[in-house]
Amino acid sequence: MGQLVTLHDKQFKPYLSEQQIAQAVNKMAKQIENDFKNETPYFLVVLNGAFMFASDLVKAFGKQCEVAFIKASSYQGTKSTGHVHLPDGITQDVKNKQVVLIEDIVETGTTIETLLAELKAAGAAGVRIASLLIKKELYHKPFPIHYSGISISNAFVVGYGLDYNGLGRNLKEIYVLA
Ligand code: IMP
Repeated sequence: MGQLVTLHDKQFKPYLSEQQIAQAVNKMAKQIENDFKNETPYFLVVLNGAFMFASDLVKAFGKQCEVAFIKASSYQGTKSTGHVHLPDGITQDVKNKQVVLIEDIVETGTTIETLLAELKAAGAAGVRIASLLIKKELYHKPFPIHYSGISISNAFVVGYGLDYNGLGRNLKEIYVLA
């Protein structure tokens, strides 16, 4: 594990190691394999934050799959704006697909709520959610998170794809505000 990291005006300390992350990712890949014995998942990666997690997850997934990307944003600094912006909308052809949304982190659930509604309207046959991290204390929506990696406390985290105002995505471990 590394030392304190400074990003813009804030310091972050090590929180989840590469090994803890890898264990969670491999566990999730196996769960999805078990659930998709006869169907091909359409992994829809929520950018930007899920890019690193998605890369590891699809490599650990041992069966055939499709991979596509969608851009969504709701955060400014260390706080959610409460409004989810999908700059390109749903351009992917999800009609009759079994979509697995790949998210970095679920907090209030507003992002997945917005995406679920859009994907259903676009004709997806089913939508499941895979999120590496979940802030359980803050999540009160009725939608099941079918695959979740690690439950974390209500704190702001960066690294492994997650950013603080654009920085920190390339860190291999996950860090928390110091
Ligand atoms: P929700 O819509 O409130 O569930 O928030 C989910 C989105 O907010 C994620 O996809 C992230 O982009 C962002 N987010 C939530 N918590 C954090 C965090 O601790 N660090 C960085 N981004 C976060």
